This record gives sequence, C-alpha cells and structure tokens, in this order.
Amino acid sequence: MARKPGLLLPLLLLLLGPAPARSFGQLPLILNTWPFKNATMAAWKTLAAGGSALDAVESGCATCEQQQCDGSVGFGGSPDESGETTLDAMIMDGTTMNVGAVGDLRRVKNAIGVARKVLEHTTHTLLAGEAATKFAESMGFINEDLSTNVSQALHSDWLARNCQPNYWKNVIPDSSKYCGPYKPPTMVKRDGIAYKDPAHSYSHDTIGMVVIHKMGNIAAGTSTNGIKFKIPGRIGDSPLPGSGAYADDMVGAAAATGDGDILMRFVPSYQAVEYMRRGENPTTACEKVISRIQKYFPKFFGAVICANVTGSYGYYSEMLTYLYTLHFEFNYTVTFRRIQLMGKGSKGGQLEASRRSGDNSADWFMTPKVKTEMRYDRTLCGNG
Ligand SMILES: *[C@@H]1O[C@H](CO)[C@@H](O)[C@H](O)[C@H]1NC(C)=O
Ligand SMILES: *[C@@H]1O[C@H](CO)[C@@H](O)[C@H](O)[C@H]1NC(C)=O
Ligand SMILES: *[C@@H]1O[C@H](CO)[C@@H](O)[C@H](O)[C@H]1NC(C)=O
Ligand SMILES: *[C@@H]1O[C@H](CO)[C@@H](O)[C@H](O)[C@H]1NC(C)=O
Repeated sequence: MARKPGLLLPLLLLLLGPAPARSFGQLPLILNTWPFKNATMAAWKTLAAGGSALDAVESGCATCEQQQCDGSVGFGGSPDESGETTLDAMIMDGTTMNVGAVGDLRRVKNAIGVARKVLEHTTHTLLAGEAATKFAESMGFINEDLSTNVSQALHSDWLARNCQPNYWKNVIPDSSKYCGPYKPPTMVKRDGIAYKDPAHSYSHDTIGMVVIHKMGNIAAGTSTNGIKFKIPGRIGDSPLPGSGAYADDMVGAAAATGDGDILMRFVPSYQAVEYMRRGENPTTACEKVISRIQKYFPKFFGAVICANVTGSYGYYSEMLTYLYTLHFEFNYTVTFRRIQLMGKGSKGGQLEASRRSGDNSADWFMTPKVKTEMRYDRTLCGNG
C-alpha cells in the first residue's frame, strides 16, 4: 500500500524539534552500491551545503567518475572491442518524474553531468553515441580521449587472448576461440536461453545511488563505463529509467547493478519501487526482483538496493561485497555505515545493519569528520 508522500513527516519532524519519534527520523538518506565511500561523502556534503537530492546524486556519481571508482566508472576503464571507453549515466527526479540520461557517450568524462543537462535543458530523456557527445560539447563539456595506459593495456591483453572473453554467439568464426569480424552462419543453431557463464565479468560495475532529502524529495542515478570488451554500441541497463535506477517521491527509489544485459529485460528498479508501492518493505522488494530474474537466469549475478520514503532501506545481492549508507538517526546524528555483505544471496537492511553495528564487528564507523559535518548540518538544515 502506498502511503502519502514523505513530505509531511520531515516537516513534522522539524516542527517537533530534535526529539521526534523513532519512525520519522531516517532522513536524509544516501545509499549507494559498492564501497564507494568518497561518492557517499560527496553526496552528503552537497546535501549539507543546502543542495537538492538531484544535486547530491550528481555530485556523488561525478566523484566516482573523477576517481574512476573500481575502474568501472568514468574514463580509462572497460575498453570495448575497439579499445574505446564509453560511458552510460542517468539521473532521475522522483518529484517531477523527469529523467536525463546518456548512453554510449564518447570522449566526455562527466557522464552524469551531461545526463543532468539532458534533464535540465531538453524535453528528451536519453541521448546516445556521437550525437550525445555533440550535445555535451554544446553544453560546455570538454571533448577528450577517455583512454589511459590501463585501458590500453587491458585491450592489448584481450587481443593477445584471441579476443576472449567476448559477447558474441552463433557466429562464424567461432567466437569462443577466435577474434572477429564475425558473420552469422547460414544456419543459426538456436540456443534457447543458454547463458554464458559471466565469471569473467565480476569485475565490472556501476555506481547506483539513491538520495532522499530531508523534505522527502527523492532522486536516483547511475554512472558506469559498462562491461569490458563489449561490442561497440552496447548500452547497458544503467541509463535506462526503471532498469538502472528509478525514483518516485510517493514511494521510494531503487538502483540495480550487475549483468546489465539481463537486468534491463526485467526493469528491476521500477519493479522494486512497484513492490514497495504495494506495501513490501525495501528488503523484500529487492529480493523479489532478483528472484524473478533467477527464474529465467539461474546464474544471474547482480544486486538491487531499495529505499522507501520513510528512509528505510534494504538490498539483495548476488555479487556485492559492500554497501555504503549515510543517514540521520532520530536524534540528528549521522550514521555512516559500511555494510559488509556475506556473498551470494545476501540480503538485509536496516535491522540487520543495526544489529551488526551493535556487535562491534567494525562494519560501521563514524569518523570525527562526519561528526563535525553533522553538527554543521544540524544548524544549517535543522532550522529549515
Ligand atoms: C577518496 O578521496 C581521497 C581524498 O580526496 C583520496 O585520497 C582517495 O584516493 C579517494 N579514494 C578512492 C578509493 O578513490
Ligand atoms: C603511459 O605510457 C606512456 C608511454 O607508453 C608513458 O610515457 C606515460 O608516462 C604513461 N602514463 C602514465 C600515466 O603512466
Ligand atoms: C518503509 O519500510 C519500513 C521497514 O520495512 C516500514 O516499517 C515502513 O512502514 C515503510 N514505510 C512506508 C511509507 O511504507
Ligand atoms: C543518538 O545517536 C547516537 C549515535 O548514533 C547514539 O549512540 C545514541 O544512542 C542516540 N540517542 C538516543 C537518545 O538514542
């Protein structure tokens, strides 16, 4: 069951002062995939400085683009078959249901920034390829090479390994042994839903971020350089609204990460938000999404993070090792959590996180720096 938008609750919270009831006190919330702590912190600083939820998502994802989080976000990572790095990103405003996104963006580092410009300055949702680069240039972004020594070395190694792994099937020459160019054989043997073991792909990933402002505005976004050695032109789930991320102020938000070619067929972030709209808690919503995918693709790997309007969050993971969250406790202190996940089939959320934080297992911490910022924020935001 969908409840009324979260707007009223934080307002109430402000009116009541610094000792509101426990169930109202989880906002703002920042939640992102992977141990990208600097991204979480950047989003937090943006909120603390008076920025909107959209601003926070943009600065968080942009931080990952600059710092090349895990090599899987930003320039110099995941070269495609031709050796080029291309970027996908999306940002969604859950208040207006406006979305900006770019796919297969070339030679521009700040993909989430370009996505934000699509949102702010066009009535379109998604721009792709060279034309997206032209758009970016017209918006003042620099056109520059995204290759680095690292991405070039990855690509040469791949060529030296006979272009293994790759993402072709049912082609001549045999793509499991040789490089292309490939052609379809005259008689294509149908292989049903045979699924290539994606073990080689575990390294690729994406930042997915959800931010809920203390006033209840919700935004979500993603940024990635896709998968290594993808076929040029491939766009993953990340820039697709409802797949990579989704946000709706009435309900909450979700973001997904993992095998994007499979993920996008199930529109998982939209589906998770819809489960929450029907009354599921965030953990169950995330879990149901993954189990739907696994019915068809038992070897699927991926994860979904979910948060509802009241700031409760959950996750279900077949791959993630860590999550970072940052949110207010009900007494206006900030909790910054590093949640270590337990491998395949990990799920959980707030309750589990609190329990774990209680057992001193070092899965969470609050740095002095965060404490300082928290006080700053209390003065700044706590008074309106
Ligand atoms: C996080 O930011 C700090 C300071 O800006 C930097 O020194 C550090 O390398 C960053 N961490 C990562 C994983 O990029
Ligand atoms: C990249 O490689 C070139 C030559 O192969 C070298 O001159 C340059 O210093 C390298 N750059 C970095 C950042 O390592
Ligand atoms: C959000 O999830 C929490 C935890 O499951 C639940 O207690 C709360 O009622 C949910 N909020 C809404 C608005 O559904
Ligand atoms: C306020 O937050 C701190 C730090 O998270 C916690 O230790 C403390 O118990 C909280 N205060 C109350 C009244 O619960």
